[in-house]
Amino acid sequence: MIPSNRQAPPQRNFTRCYLFPFFGLVFSLTLLQGCQKPPEPIETNPPKEKYPQRSGWLACDKQDLTSIPVEWNQNGLHPLAELGLEKEKRSKNAELLETEQKNNRVFNLDRYPHLKDLGGDPRPKLAATLDAFFGTPAEPRIFPAEKDPILKPEIKSQLQSLHPISEELQLRPDILAKGASLYRTNCQTCHGVTGGGDGPAGRYLTPLPRDYRQGAFKFISTGYDFTADKVRARPHRDDLARTIRKGLDGSSMPAFATLSEADVQALVSYVIHLSLRGEIEYRFLRIAADKKIAEEDPDGDPEALPEFATRQLDRLLKLWKKCNEKTITLEEDPYLTETAKLEAASRGHRLFLENCASCHLGYGRESKLKFDAWGSITKPRNLAGEGYRVGRTPQEIFTRIYEGIPGAGMPEKRDLLATPAEKAEGRSRMWDLVYFVYYLGDAYKRRQLRNEFGLPID
Ligand code: HEC
Ligand code: HEC
Repeated sequence: MIPSNRQAPPQRNFTRCYLFPFFGLVFSLTLLQGCQKPPEPIETNPPKEKYPQRSGWLACDKQDLTSIPVEWNQNGLHPLAELGLEKEKRSKNAELLETEQKNNRVFNLDRYPHLKDLGGDPRPKLAATLDAFFGTPAEPRIFPAEKDPILKPEIKSQLQSLHPISEELQLRPDILAKGASLYRTNCQTCHGVTGGGDGPAGRYLTPLPRDYRQGAFKFISTGYDFTADKVRARPHRDDLARTIRKGLDGSSMPAFATLSEADVQALVSYVIHLSLRGEIEYRFLRIAADKKIAEEDPDGDPEALPEFATRQLDRLLKLWKKCNEKTITLEEDPYLTETAKLEAASRGHRLFLENCASCHLGYGRESKLKFDAWGSITKPRNLAGEGYRVGRTPQEIFTRIYEGIPGAGMPEKRDLLATPAEKAEGRSRMWDLVYFVYYLGDAYKRRQLRNEFGLPID
């Protein structure tokens, strides 16, 4: 029998001469087209999916946790979740957290022994209220639908008066729906469906992804002073947009540099939406979880949840609006020459010791770990080496000192701004400190400060 491959050569030639180049051409055309327009499939949220209810552990942000953690959180575990583990699986931090729990700074939402007296677990009612206001991941919104029976006349008119603010903050349902799809595709695996920082990949990261549900964001530049009101400033939309576009160096927050401006803005809107929803949930649960407060505070009444949500939404939208009305204006930098800047830095050293060294021990090289407002763990930056989350420029350092780092416990410091007398002399303690911190990160400048000004730094 003649083997079939004897007849094959002519066919092979045909394949080589015509078919390969043909497919090659088609393939390169496809690639070329790919170059012009990268295919970026955006996932849509399933129509029936709801935002899950918050459960587990909660840190009370009224009183920061005061104990010093002994180690970073266990991989894959929020530090507070240690409290739910059996003794032998716990880390050394758990004992400290037990004390915090006794002092009513940490609560377990899954165990409310006192709620029976208060008429049962309020969470189903809370979930219904939040769903009415904030919709679902597929159809997010911030006001209940027009015909929702939850809209009693009293709250209806109050909510209606907030529509212009929601327009201003770009929280229209169509923008939110776009943001929600982009969020599902790009962010959810780390930040979680509700923005709790607890996505399936998020819990394995150090530091943990931001939990938006306490209204606290770290890297802000709103310029408002809320210390007197005891209110935490919210970020400007531009702050959130910068974080999304540039990421946060030294953490796992990536830079989404190729997203269009419209996509970034839709994501910013959706982060604000999740933060509003999460904070109303958080504020209610914090009251309900604390037996003493729950019994006395009318805001803890599950029957009055729609009114509570309306009041909170009113307060929060106005706060976000205020923080978005302006951004920080930096005081003019009085130091123009290298020599003037170096002299300023040498004066800034004393200010650093007075204001910053208690946390940034050994210029940050020996900083101790610290619980933050979420009950997760952070560490004052090593300013003599480590990179910064936001760019290491004099302007950003000024902004961090001026605003503090909310949630991380770094206080804002504004009393260093130049007095009129200092201004007249062409000096500013603020910029003295800024240049000291700026030069701390530069080995050459550190040596200069040591050799020329006798500062004790290496
Ligand atoms: C790979 C994980 C990961 C992904 C994906 C991710 N993030 Fe983050 N994100 C983080 C981490 C970690 C932090 C906290 C960093 C820190 O505190 O230093 C963070 C912080 C933030 C913050 C807080 C900034 C502040 O000032 O406090 C915002 C806002 C944010 N991310 C938005 C987004 C958005 C929007 C997306 C999707 C477009 C996204 N992130 C995707 C990990 C991620
Ligand atoms: C109560 C403790 C505390 C004090 C006081 C404090 N810091 Fe911090 N600082 C922190 C913590 C915590 C972080 C890390 C924040 C994070 O990313 O979680 C930090 C981070 C920083 C950063 C890094 C910002 C970035 O983009 O990564 C700078 C710069 C900084 N601090 C400067 C200062 C200066 C200057 C002072 C004095 C005016 C000061 N800090 C006082 C706790 C403190």
